[in-house]
Amino acid sequence: MKKTENEKQYIYIVQALLEPSKCKIGITKNLEKRLKSYNNMTGKSQENTYEYLYTCEVKDMKEVEKDIKDEFLIFREDKKKEIYFHNPDLFKKYVGFIKSHKLFVEEIFIKKEVKREIEKITQIVKRTAQTLKERGMTYKSIMQKAKNVDDDEFYTRYEDVEKELSMYDKNIWKDKVVFCNCDDAVDTEEHNTSAFASYFLLNFKELDLKKLICTHYANPVDLFNQGPKGYIYTREFTRYGFKEHKDYPKGYNGSFDHPLSLKILNEEADIVCTNPPFSRCRDYWKLLIESGKNFIIISNSANMLTTAYIPYFKENKIWPGYNEVYWYLTPKKALTRSAGFWFTNFPISDRPKYKNLKIMPLKKIPENYKKYDDSKTLLVDEGYIPSNYKKPFGVSSAPILNGILEKGYKIVQEKQYVPYIKGKKKFGRMLIQKIEN
Ligand SMILES: C[S@@+](CC[C@H](N)C(=O)[O-])C[C@H]1O[C@@H](n2cnc3c(N)ncnc32)[C@H](O)[C@@H]1O
Repeated sequence: MKKTENEKQYIYIVQALLEPSKCKIGITKNLEKRLKSYNNMTGKSQENTYEYLYTCEVKDMKEVEKDIKDEFLIFREDKKKEIYFHNPDLFKKYVGFIKSHKLFVEEIFIKKEVKREIEKITQIVKRTAQTLKERGMTYKSIMQKAKNVDDDEFYTRYEDVEKELSMYDKNIWKDKVVFCNCDDAVDTEEHNTSAFASYFLLNFKELDLKKLICTHYANPVDLFNQGPKGYIYTREFTRYGFKEHKDYPKGYNGSFDHPLSLKILNEEADIVCTNPPFSRCRDYWKLLIESGKNFIIISNSANMLTTAYIPYFKENKIWPGYNEVYWYLTPKKALTRSAGFWFTNFPISDRPKYKNLKIMPLKKIPENYKKYDDSKTLLVDEGYIPSNYKKPFGVSSAPILNGILEKGYKIVQEKQYVPYIKGKKKFGRMLIQKIEN
């Protein structure tokens, strides 16, 4: 068929029935034909049919696709196939981004559940007399806000806690007071006990701990069915054996910044271990780092490219732990995906992720993975790091998570670096530089 100038262009999100944790965000000029071809490829089995989750018309599909790739870099599973991680929150984020894009024309199809969510948000906005612009908000920031609220409510899986904590030298725990301070409930039922609490309870003797302190946060969304009151659980080993206690101090809500929690943090704790709420992460990091205590915690790996967090990495107050944490459990115990990583201030020995760093002379880095932005700053991708480049250059979070700061490179700017290429904004990065001998 001859191409016409008016040919319509579409962005679509498609998913295979048997792979709910992934989706493909693609482009086409013929939605019907594209879906058919997916189903012809693998749908013959009848079990793994593809369905559209979302389709819309755009003015320039390649341009929108490029911006999606930049925006959601860390959620891309397969760099060659435009495969992105999928869960309901991420899906809302993808749709929100596409709909707020300047080249968006009109929505063609959206899966019912997502449509309802989006309508709910739009209704709230409509109820207020001001427009989003007047309120200094964008559609994207509203989606982000909704996401933040949801994101606090998931559990860490036991296997992830065990995998990370067992990699540290066992001596770090000896005779120490461990404090789990973000809704790390302890219950007689294992499924109502946080994985952090379970790990330390099970390994108390093995690790030779002095004391475990866990607090329950009185949140309306009660992840561990612990009721509406905050409490402080303690377990310690005395010469009469184990002593356990659950205390419900009057007016105590279990928040990590409640004066009682701060007292434990500053006066009693030696090591803090937990997965803090995403929505309060900034305050949490500040209090924790200022306490000067040792810690091993989980946080979103995208944090480190944010101006609020970069100074901590620059000043060497925190660094990545050993592992990423992809999977979490929802209150209904379903698996959900999010880009988490362990962060710590304990020494990391022989980081296995060093192997992902591709340190080599600039001229050996493939052209695709090195470019200069409008201010002539070098940007490198895919783990490539120039070994002979003296000036600062921009990297994504991946090399930092893989330990580049332990390989003779330093962060040179406290603010996120936002490159522009031909006047177009690209995703934010960190500026690093080789340390001169
Ligand atoms: C990501 S979940 C992790 C829960 C648990 N620590 C785990 O790892 O399974 C974060 C928890 O922090 C709780 N939370 C929210 N605000 C808090 C606060 N101010 N102080 C302590 N916990 C809080 C949330 O209710 C949620 O249960």
